[in-house]
Amino acid sequence: MTGALAAGSIGAAWFTGASLADEPGVVEFSETEVSRILSHGPWPMPWSPDKSNRVSGNAHAADLGERLFFDEKLSVKGNVSCGTCHIAEYNWTDGVKRNSGQTLVDRNTPTLMNMRHHRWFALDGAADSLWGQSMRPIVDPRELASNAAHVAQYVRKDADLACRYEKTFGVSPARQDDEAVLVGVGKVMAAFQETLVTDVTPFDQFRDALARGDHAAASLYPRDARRGLKIFIGKGNCSTCHTGPMFTNGEFHDIGVSHFIDGDSKKVDAGRFEGIKKLLSSKFNLLGPYNDDPARAGAVKTTHVKAEHRNFGEFKVPSLRNVGYTGPYMHSGEIVTLDQVVRHYSELNVDRLHADGESILRPLKLSQRESADLVAFLQSLNMDRAPPWRGKEYALPPCTLDGKAAVEDNYAAP
Ligand code: HEC
Ligand code: HEC
Repeated sequence: MTGALAAGSIGAAWFTGASLADEPGVVEFSETEVSRILSHGPWPMPWSPDKSNRVSGNAHAADLGERLFFDEKLSVKGNVSCGTCHIAEYNWTDGVKRNSGQTLVDRNTPTLMNMRHHRWFALDGAADSLWGQSMRPIVDPRELASNAAHVAQYVRKDADLACRYEKTFGVSPARQDDEAVLVGVGKVMAAFQETLVTDVTPFDQFRDALARGDHAAASLYPRDARRGLKIFIGKGNCSTCHTGPMFTNGEFHDIGVSHFIDGDSKKVDAGRFEGIKKLLSSKFNLLGPYNDDPARAGAVKTTHVKAEHRNFGEFKVPSLRNVGYTGPYMHSGEIVTLDQVVRHYSELNVDRLHADGESILRPLKLSQRESADLVAFLQSLNMDRAPPWRGKEYALPPCTLDGKAAVEDNYAAP
């Protein structure tokens, strides 16, 4: 394997050079460490459209999905859109512990960045596709509190939306039943969210420099971040769950965050345990009639899940890309800063992990400096600025059904 060979030679060349080793505070990485670091890239990751969604990767779909994402008229009261809680300038979350649609929801709003690389959706994995997940807040009484009839009527009656819908799917929404239009709306919203991808970060530049064996470029990565990285992949065990270029294994774990909502012992968030039940009972999962992939390859994982006791209190491992912009943290939003997240892992109360507890986790007892270094590393996973947003200046001109499409149907995936 060329990757492993490169890692080995770089490890030796980079870290045994006398001039570097003489420098005070230089962080040495072993060959194993270098190959672990390389496993967190390259970024961006390759991506191909979602086969379960026939308009995934389609420019008309992404454009229509973007309009609907910000459209409060999808909610029956005309007061809430997806953009109420997923705000671009906040890295597609909202900066608050928990937000309200019609009423307060139980969980912290996760970012929508890099959604196209996830395998389960919602923090409890209640959906197995991005389009399936995108339909859930539309009909949730706490969020948009809408329904298939309202959504379908709205899309049919608005001439511009109806035109865009037909251009995307090749069929007028007037010729589909309400439920099919609701699914169509979920699919175009997914196509839009698939375009939200984070940029290259200081960590990626360091990682790529290591891969190239470029000392000069690698030395630009701050010392404290390097020391923090060493903890992350080493004694911190962080990369056991926060793996790969996304810094998540895409699965569910219990890390001892409270299972009670608002500290009320009667309001329990069972996490993955309930999520699996919701997933399996949904008509809109990948085993259902709306999966567009004739081979149904993506549905295999869904046939394998079953709610077991150990799933109680498990939540999805979040990606750590742009983590500096996604606070407050955890499914409950109960941890405010990254310093406090690190303290959580450092002082971990193992009694709070449930019976089948996580053998990987133990209190790390980090020194103040180690904690600060780990935070410096986490901050190096941020893009250097909050993601820019072009507002409501849509890419495509007013819709007309005659004449050629304004842009190529499919945009190129990076
Ligand atoms: C009231 C605030 C609110 C509104 C409005 C809202 N969301 Fe969310 N969103 C959340 C919360 C909270 C979660 C976590 C849900 C869970 O774990 O069950 C979430 C989760 C998601 C996820 C899954 C993220 C992940 O990491 O798996 C997607 C995708 C998503 N929302 C898209 C949307 C779309 C599309 C809309 C509009 C139709 C929308 N959201 C409206 C708060 C909101
Ligand atoms: C056993 C798997 C596991 C290990 C090991 C682990 N994490 Fe996590 N991490 C999770 C899970 C699961 C969550 C989300 C928990 C929740 O929402 O209640 C999380 C959440 C986080 C968050 C909050 C992200 C957000 O957007 O809310 C940060 C930051 C984080 N971890 C960093 C670390 C660091 C640093 C380490 C090493 C000291 C580490 N993790 C070790 C599984 C793990």
